Amino acid sequence: MCGIVGYIGNNKAVPYLLNGLHKLEYRGYDSAGIAVAENGKIKVTKSAGRIANLEKKLQEKEPYTADVGIGHTRWATHGEPSDVNSHPHSSAGEKFCLVHNGIIENFQSLKASLEKEGVIFLSQTDTETAVALLEKNYSGDVILALSKTMKQLEGSFALAIICEDEPEKIFCARRSSPLVMGKSDEGNFIASDVTAMLKYTNNVYKLGDDEIAVVTKDSIDFYNINCKKLKKESEQISWSIEDAEKGGYDHFMLKEIMEQPKAVAETVLPRIKNRKEIVLDTVKLSEEELKNIDKIYIVACGSAYHVGVIGKYILEKMTRISAEADIASEFRYRNPILDEKKLVVIISQSGETADTLAALRLAKENGAKTLSIVNVVGSSIANESEAVLYTYAGPEIAVATTKAYSAQLSVIYLLSAFIAAKLGKLDKEGLEAFISDLENMPGQIQAVLESSFDEMEKLADLFLETEHAYFIGRNLDYAGAMEASLKMKEISYLHSEAYGAGELKHGTISLIEPKTVVVALCCNDEIFAKTISNIKEVRARGAAVIAVTTEKHKNEILDVDFVVSVPDARAELLPSLEVIPMQLLSYYTAKKRGCDIDKPRNLAKSVTVE
Ligand code: F6R
Repeated sequence: MCGIVGYIGNNKAVPYLLNGLHKLEYRGYDSAGIAVAENGKIKVTKSAGRIANLEKKLQEKEPYTADVGIGHTRWATHGEPSDVNSHPHSSAGEKFCLVHNGIIENFQSLKASLEKEGVIFLSQTDTETAVALLEKNYSGDVILALSKTMKQLEGSFALAIICEDEPEKIFCARRSSPLVMGKSDEGNFIASDVTAMLKYTNNVYKLGDDEIAVVTKDSIDFYNINCKKLKKESEQISWSIEDAEKGGYDHFMLKEIMEQPKAVAETVLPRIKNRKEIVLDTVKLSEEELKNIDKIYIVACGSAYHVGVIGKYILEKMTRISAEADIASEFRYRNPILDEKKLVVIISQSGETADTLAALRLAKENGAKTLSIVNVVGSSIANESEAVLYTYAGPEIAVATTKAYSAQLSVIYLLSAFIAAKLGKLDKEGLEAFISDLENMPGQIQAVLESSFDEMEKLADLFLETEHAYFIGRNLDYAGAMEASLKMKEISYLHSEAYGAGELKHGTISLIEPKTVVVALCCNDEIFAKTISNIKEVRARGAAVIAVTTEKHKNEILDVDFVVSVPDARAELLPSLEVIPMQLLSYYTAKKRGCDIDKPRNLAKSVTVE
């Protein structure tokens, strides 16, 4: 959420800043801005709207020649998306200029006391208080002023700062909002997300909580909040620049949909040994500890929460440990029962989602065992969990998740079978059969992609004549319906809802009328017949129905507008297959409705605010 970039080197900074901002635009696109230190002065250009607006403004100006600068792309929290609320923000004396990700929670009290001292604020942002405070705390030593400022700030921040008195440096600080630094032959970079610098380097330093970095052309130095110098090693990131580019596709979302067989294969296959054992090295829970666990909570937000709902069904079914899925923003405020007998599984693509991170911290504080499923290596959630199982989906750029979702699901399968085997709920033959089905999954996903690609493009026409869609299903199909519905609404702006198929007649069925589209997921054998009855109920009220089922059932569904089929598979693994046509359907609906698929309105990737 919001993107930060910075460059310092021997070349002109602006092209690097703009390139970085384009790479980060998926994190927020309400406004963008840059600041450079040029001839002893800080110069700022910023604009509401997309980066293209900023580029236009820059073209109308005398080109900046500076070799140091910072940039920001914003997802508005405090104050509307306007020129004045855009970052960077300057201090009143114009000595400091900074960009900020996160939320300064005590900004109102800080602002009030600064105003009493005569500071005049120009914007409605929380960020401006940080830069004002920095100037107030400054008496010739920027690191000291920054340290004092950090101690006064509450909430989360990643800050990149330039100072008129030391124009050959970029100063950085962070608390609970990511910031990385990288050295390259073309100069040194800072960014909120490694994708902004992958073109130049994949060797990065990660700034820790309450740490400061000072970046020059030739060096990167680190300090703690008390200004004590720290030693830090760089880390090699396995992602490449190609991973973060469209590679010939019209949209990142489509590219990422097509990358799912690879994401699942890379997440699953290295964890299978000799086709008979699941190896999860990082999960150190002994058999005894597993036996002691009386409840598993799976906590996440959005699509990751939908993975959690699927996980609840599968973990409970396979391990016979009671499992519950929770939305992180609810979990953290509902005083959940947590102790050493609870296992809290946290799911997050970014590893930085504020509510999910807070839920993890709550679980740890209360003695629960924690395990996270995360895509971004070294992210806050990964760092703070007792055990982490990475998904190897590569960078996900489209705001709407697809490949990370599929990779998360595949970790749920691995984890469920791993625990079930350890607890003796899955015998040797059962485990081998499960593993064999897991190994087939990337190929089956590929087959669904191929069979449904053109079909979904045509089917999307059905959604052009309606403003309402319902996705229904039971059990695992219901969890799948939740994800299918979210995908549809978030990128196509079509109103859609997910319902347990049996629940519809308890109220919602009154909304069904001719032309309402109902997508019925009915892959699950055990309750297939029940869902068919529910399809008949909506059909009788005139709804257009698309049924999604398995090969073996496809000829049993009559009197619907269209049947989408996926290969037959083990019930637990079907969510990974049925989601594929649903992603494509949403994609093509959004495309036909002329929506901005990769950057849907009001959304941003990596939600680092509550
Ligand atoms: C929807 C989507 C979001 C995320 C949610 C959690 O397509 O992408 O609902 O799943 O914001 O994000 P992470 O997984 O980064 O914690």
